Amino acid sequence: MSAGADTTPVIGVLGAGVMGSGIAQVTALAGCPTYCYDPDADARGRGLAEVTTGRFGLDGAVARGKRTRDEADAALARITFTDSFEQAAGADVVIEAVPEKLDLKIKVFRDLDRVAPAGTILASNTSGFPIAALAAATDRPSRVIGWHWASPAPVMRLAEIVRTEATDDDVIATISDLAARCGKNPVVVNDAPTSWGFVANRIYFAMLREASRVVSEGVATREQVDQLMVDCYRWPAGPYGMVQGAGSGWSGGSAG
Ligand SMILES: NC(=O)c1ccc[n+]([C@@H]2O[C@H](COP(=O)([O-])OP(=O)(O)OC[C@H]3O[C@@H](n4cnc5c(N)ncnc54)[C@H](O)[C@@H]3O)[C@@H](O)[C@H]2O)c1
Repeated sequence: MSAGADTTPVIGVLGAGVMGSGIAQVTALAGCPTYCYDPDADARGRGLAEVTTGRFGLDGAVARGKRTRDEADAALARITFTDSFEQAAGADVVIEAVPEKLDLKIKVFRDLDRVAPAGTILASNTSGFPIAALAAATDRPSRVIGWHWASPAPVMRLAEIVRTEATDDDVIATISDLAARCGKNPVVVNDAPTSWGFVANRIYFAMLREASRVVSEGVATREQVDQLMVDCYRWPAGPYGMVQGAGSGWSGGSAG
């Protein structure tokens, strides 16, 4: 499936939750027809609400002058929230954003491999499971890749592209180009089959572990840790401020 004679890919997104709905919004804004599948009707309804009137949704982008009304309406018209797995799996690129449970993701990749056309690229937004474990559930490991986004997807520029030893170069190029087209900043890293997390989450959690040790040893309070890291390294927030930002969104962010 392809949107036309040009190279605009059709996108399937699996999961209409926090990440999936945001990802669908971004790919639609980038001009790609987007099918977002979720088996839960309430989740599909919430996803649509997030994309339209949510904090980082299209209406807000128009109100802040980031997008014209026409651009927002055109993007919305490109998104279909669907209860058909086959419809989403029939895309050129499928981005999996189901809950972070390895057995669920393996099942989803097995089903995808069965239903998706042979050339379809299967990408996972897992926060940290080895991409090789998902690729191994398919008969097309060369077309499986990690594409780790940050929340909120419409705002954050992260595009941590994770290649396995089997991922084809053309798949890496296609996903990197697509991420750039989505306004993201693609960085290609290697899969880490023996650890949880790629680069961003491993370093983030290492920092949090050390911050927790400092606090539990009574060396400093959380607030002091945050202040010292901001003052010493010009970080925008300290470790504890980052937990809040990563969990509920960064103040000052606005959807593009
Ligand atoms: N939330 C974040 O900050 C964040 C950031 C980066 C990556 N991630 C990763 O993104 C993925 C999704 O996280 P989320 O926060 O959007 O979760 P979420 O719980 O908000 O959404 C998950 C959605 O998947 C749906 N779902 C369940 N089974 C499904 C299936 N078989 N097929 C299709 N949809 C199914 C659920 O109904 C739900 O709507 C996870 O792997 C998570 O680790 C999350």
